[in-house]
Amino acid sequence: MRVGFIGGGKMAEAMIRGIVSSGSVTADDVLVSDISEERCTLLKDQYGIQVCSGNAELVGVCDVVFLAVKPQGLAPVLEEIGAGVTEQHLVLSIAAGKRLDGMAAVLSSARLVRVMPNLPATVGEGMSAYCMTAGATDSDRDVVQTLLGSFGKVVELPEEQFDAVTAVSGSGPAFFAHFLALVIEAGETLGLAPSDAALLATQTMRGTAQLLSEQASSPAELVKAVCSKKGTTEAGMAQLSSPVLADIVQAALQAAADRSRELSA
Ligand SMILES: NC(=O)c1ccc[n+]([C@@H]2O[C@H](COP(=O)([O-])OP(=O)(O)OC[C@H]3O[C@@H](n4cnc5c(N)ncnc54)[C@H](OP(=O)(O)O)[C@@H]3O)[C@@H](O)[C@H]2O)c1
Repeated sequence: MRVGFIGGGKMAEAMIRGIVSSGSVTADDVLVSDISEERCTLLKDQYGIQVCSGNAELVGVCDVVFLAVKPQGLAPVLEEIGAGVTEQHLVLSIAAGKRLDGMAAVLSSARLVRVMPNLPATVGEGMSAYCMTAGATDSDRDVVQTLLGSFGKVVELPEEQFDAVTAVSGSGPAFFAHFLALVIEAGETLGLAPSDAALLATQTMRGTAQLLSEQASSPAELVKAVCSKKGTTEAGMAQLSSPVLADIVQAALQAAADRSRELSA
């Protein structure tokens, strides 16, 4: 199996790192094509993968093709590779908001997959959701799960849920990082040195996520476990439980989902 990436930016690099380091595909069988020669050279030097001189050439030598350009750049890429894509190809797009039917209108013969990965894939802790066109097979599903599983967790979900997926896990790392930045800033205001506040808050976020995923308890149960009657956490939670915060979080996710829907137009 030869796996190609059209677009070798941040997200492609995270996926390439996982795919190559897990041994799912050998570096010799991973190819990239990017309009930036600098990006191609960096990826070649860093991961030992091959560079193609153009998108059409890459499609000609790969069985699996990731489309990893910005959503606004997807249409010209589809036009460019359309003639070379056949029923032998499995094509995975990671472009936010871009629907399978839009891609199928140009790449009618290929089996198509829409994927929403996220940036923690860079450290092997990604979260990817995917959906496939009706023509995709069980063996395509195995390939998709193996490739995406090499850089984190994978779930298959209906395409109707992809705007919500994009808001929760695609954009989510930025939302959690923003909350973390606010906690660090508050720690500094309370008198901590910036580096100490960053260490305390970041490790607390990491440990909380690990505890939740390993013990399969709900966030609400964890809050309860940390809160003791009339204690410090209860005092803080009295502020955080404000409906204003819940409204802000809802509005942020709604805006991300709305933008994902707009990008599909
Ligand atoms: N970043 C995330 O956290 C994240 C999460 C989930 C999904 N995604 C999706 O992943 C996709 C890529 O995002 P990204 O953050 O990796 O963007 P990025 O870093 O800008 O990477 C895109 C790369 O594609 C190159 N490119 C543009 N047009 C091209 C063309 N016609 N042929 C070949 N290469 C081309 C760009 O070069 P230039 O920079 O020179 O234009 C750039 O190197 C987007 O569709 C986004 O929705 C991103």
